[in-house]
Amino acid sequence: MYAAIDPGRPVRWGFIGAGGIADKLANDIGLTEGNVVVAVSARDAGRAADFAKRHGIERSYGSYKELVADDGVDVVYIATTHPGHKSQSLMAIEAGKSLLIEKPVCLNAADAREVFRAAVSAGVFAMEAMWMRCNPLVLRAEQLIAEGAIGEVQGVRFEFGLGIPFDPTHRLFELANGGGALLDLGIYPASFAFHFLGLPDEVRTVGTLSPTGSDDIVAMQWIYADVPRADLWCSATVHAPNKSAIRGTKGWLEFQPMAWRPTGLIVHNADGEYLIPDPLDGHGFGYTAQVLEVERCLREGLTESPLVPTADTIAILEILDGARAAVGVVYPGEKGSR
Ligand SMILES: NC(=O)c1ccc[n+]([C@@H]2O[C@H](COP(=O)([O-])OP(=O)(O)OC[C@H]3O[C@@H](n4cnc5c(N)ncnc54)[C@H](OP(=O)(O)O)[C@@H]3O)[C@@H](O)[C@H]2O)c1
Repeated sequence: MYAAIDPGRPVRWGFIGAGGIADKLANDIGLTEGNVVVAVSARDAGRAADFAKRHGIERSYGSYKELVADDGVDVVYIATTHPGHKSQSLMAIEAGKSLLIEKPVCLNAADAREVFRAAVSAGVFAMEAMWMRCNPLVLRAEQLIAEGAIGEVQGVRFEFGLGIPFDPTHRLFELANGGGALLDLGIYPASFAFHFLGLPDEVRTVGTLSPTGSDDIVAMQWIYADVPRADLWCSATVHAPNKSAIRGTKGWLEFQPMAWRPTGLIVHNADGEYLIPDPLDGHGFGYTAQVLEVERCLREGLTESPLVPTADTIAILEILDGARAAVGVVYPGEKGSR
């Protein structure tokens, strides 16, 4: 079991992977008072050193193994592409490190269960980097619903299209690198719907594949025995306004300007329409709330975040496993792969 981190010192982060999202999180960690990135690792020592220089990080390593062995690291951030998450998480857990793992935690629910089971056995903290569940506006929406601001919730919608031209070497299309719209983008609509509506009774999925066989466009309807329903959509290649909303019997809530990284929450009800601005707007890339949640959990000695519970992460991956099967995507090494 790890020891809760004393409030007198910062939480020390070590990064596995020095790519796109690692750059953004390093920036946002630097915007918080209680956190510092002390080490970074990449497959290439030179790239790790460049990353360290860019962000003022003390130590850099050319292997992930050296990073997890660093005694000065409290929490490891797994910032590589999805297929690496499982083995890298297990390696960090074995070294006694707490973890923030990029979404999706693993390619499928079975692997995610294995990772979280290992974390529980080792008594370390582990959380999926589902920043949306820590976002202040999402938490405010939850509070407004509990206060009855839109009456009974009747459903949600959430779309996320990136509009990236097809490129077989881009990670979103490369099956060997976990490519596909559902795991990269669709996981946000799924997490949103799960948060506000819970586990669906039935999921209907339709989708199309890219020329590499990765899922490109996927639409899901989550059906419930009572009225609520979720209309969810994602695509790697299609451009979309990327809106999200929660429907209710007395009004509705809409995240602005788009579902991904909202900076405002619009409330429509019998009182009219009003905008709640994001208290973190203009504060980095929108990940500080997630960093502060990890810090809070580590200072309290928790092994999981109440905002991003392990059970939810696994349940959402189970739904995505089903949706992926419906559109016919199997990753190399998974059961059913050729
Ligand atoms: N939370 C968010 O908002 C958000 C946003 C974007 C992405 N993500 C997630 O973050 C993860 C990384 O995304 P990214 O956009 O940062 O990706 P990226 O820049 O393309 O790659 C990140 C790192 O993954 C490793 N990597 C890339 N391709 C690889 C390959 N073919 N084989 C082995 N390792 C490879 C590399 O690690 P080295 O540096 O060690 O070489 C690379 O620096 C994904 O799981 C993605 O879903 C989250």
